[in-house]
Amino acid sequence: MSAVNILMDTPETGIYRLTVNRPKQLNALNQQTLEDIRSAVQDLAQAADARVLIVTGSGDKSFIAGADIKQMQAKSAVEGQRFSTLGLSTVQALSDLPFPVIAAVNGYALGGGCELALACDWIIAAEHATFGQPEVKLGVPPGFGGTQRLPRRIGSARAMEMIVSGNTIDAQTALSWGLVNHVYPADQLLAEAMQMARTLSKRAPLAVELSKKLVLDGADLSLEQANSMENRAFGLAFATDDQTEGMRAFIEKRKAVFSGR
Ligand code: CAA
Repeated sequence: MSAVNILMDTPETGIYRLTVNRPKQLNALNQQTLEDIRSAVQDLAQAADARVLIVTGSGDKSFIAGADIKQMQAKSAVEGQRFSTLGLSTVQALSDLPFPVIAAVNGYALGGGCELALACDWIIAAEHATFGQPEVKLGVPPGFGGTQRLPRRIGSARAMEMIVSGNTIDAQTALSWGLVNHVYPADQLLAEAMQMARTLSKRAPLAVELSKKLVLDGADLSLEQANSMENRAFGLAFATDDQTEGMRAFIEKRKAVFSGR
């Protein structure tokens, strides 16, 4: 079934772009949109040529202004929990992709929009971007992972302030708090995302995949367990053609050409 509320394109070989496309609703995440994203991302996980995903929103005002409040407002407790389960599995699918995912936040990233950006490996933002977890203003806590990913990304005190106050922060504050890696003028955001994606797509794919997994999985382990996992992954990498090629290319003073094997 083709997606209704998202656009997926491939601006260059290996570089995919997912655009949430409900600009009149500021790209709010209703059930259909979440299902579209999850399904597209699960398909992308099987695409052998994929090296990077850029996630952004349609229009120039909003990345994603949160879960769709109009659709949520009449839900029962059971339906609310199911909606959260859908949102959690959708953002987890992004996090699980075996290659880097960059959120290019082009405006509001509120509630579920901030949570979706947090499931990406890092965030770059336009100067006018706004971040927040305003759920407490609606009578609910965050439901797509914000109470867990936000403190892991920026520390518990700042995350707690954002989550329990519901106040928003601007792009410069998000940059200084470590929520955002880089801030760019709005008209340069996607070009900068593409430039970064090109760089990433030249790296050894299996080493990138292993590195991403080590950072994410290691965060919830003891330092000793996480280092032991890194130790095994480092050894495993020596069984790849990419290790042979990468090190040989260095010694031969040429650019490596990686096969992803
Ligand atoms: N859900 C549904 N519709 C939304 C929406 C949302 N989250 N955010 C914006 N819209 C709709 C508006 O209802 C409006 O539609 P109509 O033209 O049909 O009235 C349209 O998008 C444009 O929005 P505004 O007129 O409100 O635009 P604005 O510039 O005046 O304000 C805004 C922009 C500050 C982002 C404001 O729209 C807003 O506060 N939106 C809600 C933000 C929010 O609370 N997000 C969290 C949702 S809860 C959640 O996400 C739970 C979770 O953790 C999973």
